Amino acid sequence: TSALPEKYTMRPLQRSDYKAGVLDVLRVLTTVGEISEQAWIERYDWMARRGDEYYILVVCDGEEKVVGTGCVVVERKFIHNLGLVGHIEDIVVNKDQQGKKLGLRIIEALDYIAEKVGCYKTILDCSETNEGFYVKCGYKRVGLEMAQYY
Ligand code: ACO
Repeated sequence: TSALPEKYTMRPLQRSDYKAGVLDVLRVLTTVGEISEQAWIERYDWMARRGDEYYILVVCDGEEKVVGTGCVVVERKFIHNLGLVGHIEDIVVNKDQQGKKLGLRIIEALDYIAEKVGCYKTILDCSETNEGFYVKCGYKRVGLEMAQYY
């Protein structure tokens, strides 16, 4: 993985990141809702107990404020000799921080984790407008997303 801008850091998500603004970063991506700190902690702890399944990274600026985040969820399969597949989810960089390669560094780090834990591939869904970003990250278009909403 190449370097982040000076003073920026990347690390796993922490319980205390509720206060570091991670939900506001996710609001750049989509609807988050009003999540209390207690509800956050319950979900965080649930994910942390599945530490070999949920890998969530954050990028912080020099003031320890979260400015970017991304996740890879490791799915265990029967097929492909009990294969593991990484699912990249919820990649987002604050508007005023975009274009500094933070997104690229997040994807590189998540790819590294996925390969390291034994995934044979990593996949993701994105809009047409983000295709170019993922191509720059080394991904290629292979399929078609379908969804059923409840
Ligand atoms: N289309 C084409 N190329 C792009 C795009 C785009 N939408 N976005 C970035 N790139 C290019 C950059 O120009 C750069 O190219 P270069 O190396 O030639 O200079 C390269 O991709 C890397 O760009 P970064 O600076 O790392 O991108 P950034 O930090 O701005 O993050 C991101 C990109 C995450 C898409 C950001 O724009 C963002 O948060 N958008 C809003 C939320 C979003 O749509 N997230 C993705 C949802 S899909 C999912 O989560 C699986």
